[in-house]
Amino acid sequence: MAIYDIVKFPNPVLTTPASPVSRVTQNVVRVLENMAETMKAANGIGLAAPQVNILKRIAVVDVEDGKGRLDLINPVILEGRDEELGPDGCLSIPGLYGDTPRFKWIRVQMWDRNGMHVEFEETGFRARCIQHEIDHLDGILFTSKAVRLYRDDMAPQSGKGRRGAVMKSTPLGGQ
Ligand code: NI
Repeated sequence: MAIYDIVKFPNPVLTTPASPVSRVTQNVVRVLENMAETMKAANGIGLAAPQVNILKRIAVVDVEDGKGRLDLINPVILEGRDEELGPDGCLSIPGLYGDTPRFKWIRVQMWDRNGMHVEFEETGFRARCIQHEIDHLDGILFTSKAVRLYRDDMAPQSGKGRRGAVMKSTPLGGQ
């Protein structure tokens, strides 16, 4: 396994749409494992392949909610409901956060690491993170969707509402 360098804003690879994976090869599985290592080493909760300079539609998510890691290959949001504002952060834009609209509930189609087509529903913070990663695959950064941006030293203190609570329980460094 290997740890990749994480590409930082404003590298143009971050705003370039990624190509679909045509077949789940051993190389794709190796990239997923290396991305998972890279995410963990950076204390992140999600990572998309363009963030490690690989323009393929691959991402990993682990929001440490006990549900384990999710490997996404060619993911598509089929349906989303109930938009809400919440905190997004990004490993490629360290120290910056933003109140970003995301669906509370999504239905996702993707390939798993065996190349099988799967469909599932997701809610809450895990759904938020999946939407953030899929945006990366389309070359979209949360800063283009956020209604308000703030540095981490301007984040609300604990005890001042939901965002503070989420920020506290969320590894800084983001997605
Ligand atoms: Ni990100």
